[in-house]
Amino acid sequence: MRRLGNVNSVYLRTFALLLCLYSATGDYCEVNVCQNGGTCVTGVGEDPFICICDDGFGGDTCNLTEIGPCSPNPCKNDGSCEVIAPTRRGDVFNGYVCRCQPGFDGVHCQINVNDCANQPCKNGGACRDLDGDYTCQCPSPYVGKQCQLRCISLLGMEGGAIVESQISSSSVHFGIMGLQRWGPELARLNNQGIVNAWTSATHDRNPWIQINMQKKMRLTGIITQGASRMGTAEYIKAFKVASSFDGNTYAVYKLDGQRNDKVFVGNTDNDSTKTNMFDPPIVAQFIRIIPVVCRRACTLRMELVGCELNVYSNTAGCSEPMGMKSRLISDGQLTASSSFRTWGIDTFTWHPQYARLDKAGKTNAWSPSNNNRSEWIQVDLEKTKRLTGIITQGAKDFGVVQFVSVFKVAYSNDGESWSTVKDENTGNHKLFQGNIDNNTHKKNVFNPPFYARFVRVVPWEWHERITLRMELLGCDD
Ligand SMILES: *[C@@H]1O[C@H](CO)[C@@H](O)[C@H](O)[C@H]1NC(C)=O
Ligand SMILES: *[C@@H]1O[C@H](CO)[C@@H](O)[C@H](O)[C@H]1NC(C)=O
Ligand SMILES: *[C@@H]1O[C@H](CO)[C@@H](O)[C@H](O)[C@H]1NC(C)=O
Ligand SMILES: *[C@@H]1O[C@H](CO)[C@@H](O)[C@H](O)[C@H]1NC(C)=O
Repeated sequence: MRRLGNVNSVYLRTFALLLCLYSATGDYCEVNVCQNGGTCVTGVGEDPFICICDDGFGGDTCNLTEIGPCSPNPCKNDGSCEVIAPTRRGDVFNGYVCRCQPGFDGVHCQINVNDCANQPCKNGGACRDLDGDYTCQCPSPYVGKQCQLRCISLLGMEGGAIVESQISSSSVHFGIMGLQRWGPELARLNNQGIVNAWTSATHDRNPWIQINMQKKMRLTGIITQGASRMGTAEYIKAFKVASSFDGNTYAVYKLDGQRNDKVFVGNTDNDSTKTNMFDPPIVAQFIRIIPVVCRRACTLRMELVGCELNVYSNTAGCSEPMGMKSRLISDGQLTASSSFRTWGIDTFTWHPQYARLDKAGKTNAWSPSNNNRSEWIQVDLEKTKRLTGIITQGAKDFGVVQFVSVFKVAYSNDGESWSTVKDENTGNHKLFQGNIDNNTHKKNVFNPPFYARFVRVVPWEWHERITLRMELLGCDD
């Protein structure tokens, strides 16, 4: 019985002992654990047993007294209950109505309606139904919750909003005995004159030209153009594109699900323009064009197409739920240091996949097997996202209130090297104030926000046992 070491309640010890005995015989109802005349039944649904309560009682073990039709709340999925007649609930479902949250339907809000039915995604976006929500996968250049916005501004190579100091290159070609400088700052679409484009040096085996946009931007396309030098056309026939957040590590653009770098088809003469779209768009501060095949020399004039990031979430700000509750974050994206099993029973495992805000059920949260500061739960967002906050919530294990009262947050881009969120004033690891009961949502903001693909919550202090349900807040940028 060592596994009971964590549990304080005398009640639970007794109950646990009974359940250990049942698990040996496989019949959870051998002794009736349902109180107040409730009937214990096994073999129904996922739970090892359920209690069918007598009139006037409710709760997992029928020990909650029913006070009127709405208490305990018969409505599922956060539906609110409204009394319409002062009768007892009993077995007939009258005397109350459930007002459902958006996305839920049915007498008890038990039906997760198809949020894609009304075709909310515009401009050819693909809709995916979630619990009480939907998500649109937008074709480039459309962005926004419903793909309603077009991200097609010209970013300023031709217009001049991108200044000379933002443009650099691996090398420069000097023509006519070194008098003509084909520098990167000339690589502007429709640039005129005798020397009117960037050309890499003849000896340069790995040429590139780079634009520093000075902040993270969303890029949906690129327009390229060659030039003519001494009466001969020069241009880039094929190129790759790389991008970076910090100017140190670069990722070469690939299509979703492809292993090979995407090779874009470029120009075919000295003057006409060629437009390529980025689908999916690139979010980055630095963008690099890497010529792969050049005609005579790698010569380029260009323009970038895109938009500011905040158009994506213009009204809501960057604080959308990232999908713990709605299940946009799938079970496979959630892992943890360990998982607790109540009384060592597999059916009562507190998996990281249960750490979803407002999850219902008997085991409805993540809980690790040890209660110490080595434990963590991790979310893999699959792409780098901007994270601005977190909502946490505790839970109950057979009536015992459990929650995390203080926690740390760590994040990573590769799942290997981690940074812990720091307190802005002290520079120490930030200790976030968590929950104080089994149910209330506690929100904390990340100030400043951070960009990451992986996020870990590290419980630091807790009540009874580390027990956590949560939601991350942020946006795709
Ligand atoms: C460059 O393009 C212009 C316009 O298409 C064309 O008239 C000219 O002959 C081209 N020059 C070279 C050197 O190919
Ligand atoms: C937490 O508990 C586990 C298992 O008992 C142990 O291996 C680990 O060292 C502990 N960590 C801390 C920080 O106490
Ligand atoms: C119901 O039972 C739980 C244990 O299952 C106990 O913690 C709780 O206090 C009980 N509630 C009432 C109202 O008796
Ligand atoms: C748990 O949370 C619910 C909902 O907020 C609340 O009604 C209940 O009293 C809490 N249970 C305990 C034992 O604190």
